[in-house]
Amino acid sequence: MKNIYLPHLAEIVDIKQETPDIKTFKLKFKDQAVEDSFDHKPGQFVEFSIFGEGEAPFCISNSPTRKSGIECSVKRMGKITQALHELDTGDTVGIRGPYGNGFPIEDLKNKNLLFVAGGIGLAPLRSLINYCLDNRNNFKSVTIVNGARTSKDLVYKDEYQAWEKARDTKLYLTVDCQEENWTCMVGVVPKILEQLKPTCQDSVAIVCGPPIMIKYTMPVLLKIGFCPEAIITTLEMKMKCGLGKCGRCNIGNLYVCKDGPVFSYAQLKTLRYEL
Ligand code: FES
Repeated sequence: MKNIYLPHLAEIVDIKQETPDIKTFKLKFKDQAVEDSFDHKPGQFVEFSIFGEGEAPFCISNSPTRKSGIECSVKRMGKITQALHELDTGDTVGIRGPYGNGFPIEDLKNKNLLFVAGGIGLAPLRSLINYCLDNRNNFKSVTIVNGARTSKDLVYKDEYQAWEKARDTKLYLTVDCQEENWTCMVGVVPKILEQLKPTCQDSVAIVCGPPIMIKYTMPVLLKIGFCPEAIITTLEMKMKCGLGKCGRCNIGNLYVCKDGPVFSYAQLKTLRYEL
């Protein structure tokens, strides 16, 4: 019988230093048949094995429409992420997945999309943003509000120009405090949203970032007029197996790894989950 916990071997083919503590790893499966058959939806994640260190889940940050391996952006913040940051191109890791429900793409069609990201929270949204831009006719306007503590902490800087140039797409960048030579916005993401007041008509907001940002962003979106069903977020919880087996990630009767990680704010309220 097939062992569902057994990862496939993958080679790190590229590493990009996004910020002082975030790197994007590009991986290719060693088995060409696995590489060819791997498919994912924006918002799904994979379990990464770093041999001798352990396993951890990371969202897939590239769009399935831009397939040249799997990309995951990882912030150095613990034992496994530290070990991953020390790896080099050519090194081997284990990958299993993809797991999770991913973003509800059908529900987003013909809607105005508001992406709200903070720091590394842009990683799962980048997958969806590029998916939407590559299927531009299926969606209405795209507005991206992306914030970080400082300009050095902004991820995917190479892609901003393409996003700004895309049809009916606006990108707002913000940092917490004014910096020398910074010409974009200044202020935390919820404050910027209050200023911008993006349309809530026929709109869905997709939010991902640090808990404090999410906590203060939700009331602003509700005040602007978004209903809880039209606000989507993706949760980062203490996932372990990724398969709905270990019971570490449950909220109410749902598992974040299997039923999520993407949930609407309305669902989370019903589950009495505190953001
Ligand atoms: S991570 Fe094991 S049940 Fe979700």
